[in-house]
Amino acid sequence: MDKFVIRGGERLNGTVEVSGAKNASLALMPAALLASGITRLRNTPALRDVSTMSTLLKSMGAKVDFKNNTLAIDSRGVKHFEAPYEHVKKMRASIYVLGPLIARFGQARVSLPGGCAWGPRPVNLHLEGLQKLGAQIELEGGYINAKADRLTGTKIHFDVSSVGATGNILMAAVLASGTTLIENAAIEPEMTSLAEFLVAMGAKIDGIGTNRLEIEGVDSLKAAETRTIPDRIEAGTFLVAAAMTGGEITLTGVRPDQLSAVTAKLEDAGCTIGFTEDTITLTAPETIRPVDVTANIYPGFPTDMQAQWTAMMSIADGTSIITDSIYFDRFKHVPELVRLGANIEIKENAAVVRGVPRITGAKVMSTDLRASASLILAGLVASGTTEVLRVYHIDRGYEAIEKKLQTLGADIQRVTGEEF
Ligand code: EPZ
Repeated sequence: MDKFVIRGGERLNGTVEVSGAKNASLALMPAALLASGITRLRNTPALRDVSTMSTLLKSMGAKVDFKNNTLAIDSRGVKHFEAPYEHVKKMRASIYVLGPLIARFGQARVSLPGGCAWGPRPVNLHLEGLQKLGAQIELEGGYINAKADRLTGTKIHFDVSSVGATGNILMAAVLASGTTLIENAAIEPEMTSLAEFLVAMGAKIDGIGTNRLEIEGVDSLKAAETRTIPDRIEAGTFLVAAAMTGGEITLTGVRPDQLSAVTAKLEDAGCTIGFTEDTITLTAPETIRPVDVTANIYPGFPTDMQAQWTAMMSIADGTSIITDSIYFDRFKHVPELVRLGANIEIKENAAVVRGVPRITGAKVMSTDLRASASLILAGLVASGTTEVLRVYHIDRGYEAIEKKLQTLGADIQRVTGEEF
């Protein structure tokens, strides 16, 4: 198991390229199951989650090749329609194969995802939506067994705006007979990029980019290719790193329009930010101002940036409140930040952060992807040495993060091998 050893205090400076988006790739890859042929996904990030999804598709009979950040998925050999617990327990997004398998092959056996580091994350909206499209769904032995001759278009209104349920129902409805209307669909950029890709495969979808999607089912789709959108969460993480370390960085290959909720808060905190069509330059302030945020659905402040913001506010000049309206108990990073000397109190689904003048290095434990990102950020400003343990969590969603940080001047080393 790897750990990161970080000596804090370096100001980050320079330019770094943003990788393709994990959460876009994890939705695009299962879409390859909807057509027989070779799907090509350029700008795919080299992440553990991408290789987990590749292994799952291979176990179904697909051929998957990854070279120079281009993923080629040959679905012509797919003949097993199962996502075993061994895969799904590693990555909840494996559930994205459910919709495409039922729509294309009329059957699927997919393990229920189970719990996650920060509490229950049900999939009822996925199942209810598929049942409304006519799938027979049976839960047995921790598995979802689904069957359908052909799905039939209908109206689906989501009580909660869910990224995953939107993706699954969208990928099911494109091959259904008749028209499906999804109301209160998620409009996260990763869902818009999925819908655009499905249209490139021959699907008929109206309302892309809005929370009202109308899908006219077609009889078949063809394999296609696309470029994966940049990762707005990776981009946000690097901007916060620069702000916390008093540095100045430029991100390239980024979509500033998909990050506006984060950059607006960074400006409120005192940062100076410059934009071009595909770059963002941030200059840190002398003193970080405390800024409250409430994590919400897109285009609100992303919950996947909440932990990183908490780390930044722990060294701000004053008190701030960070509320998460998506995941009520996504605060596993807080006790670890407190180990570094932060002053944070949890009250229901909010963290009250009283900024401290300095934090001090210590050993801290990663619990999930974004929590581990917040610990790395804290380590970059802590005096002395911070050891972030179990960084396999971070490798799930950040491509070579330590190498990118080193190019910006950070003193961070990956140490491999020992049991931590
Ligand atoms: C996606 O998860 C992302 N994962 C998450 O990013 C992200 O935190 C989340 O969206 C919210 O933005 C991927 O894209 C692979 P949801 P997802 O369905 O699809 C409730 C990261 O760090 N809900 O939009 O699982 C649910 O409990 C990861 O990269 C139901 O009640 O999220 C939550 O409160 C972590 N029933 C809310 O909806 C359902 O059937 C939003 O969840 C589905 C969801």
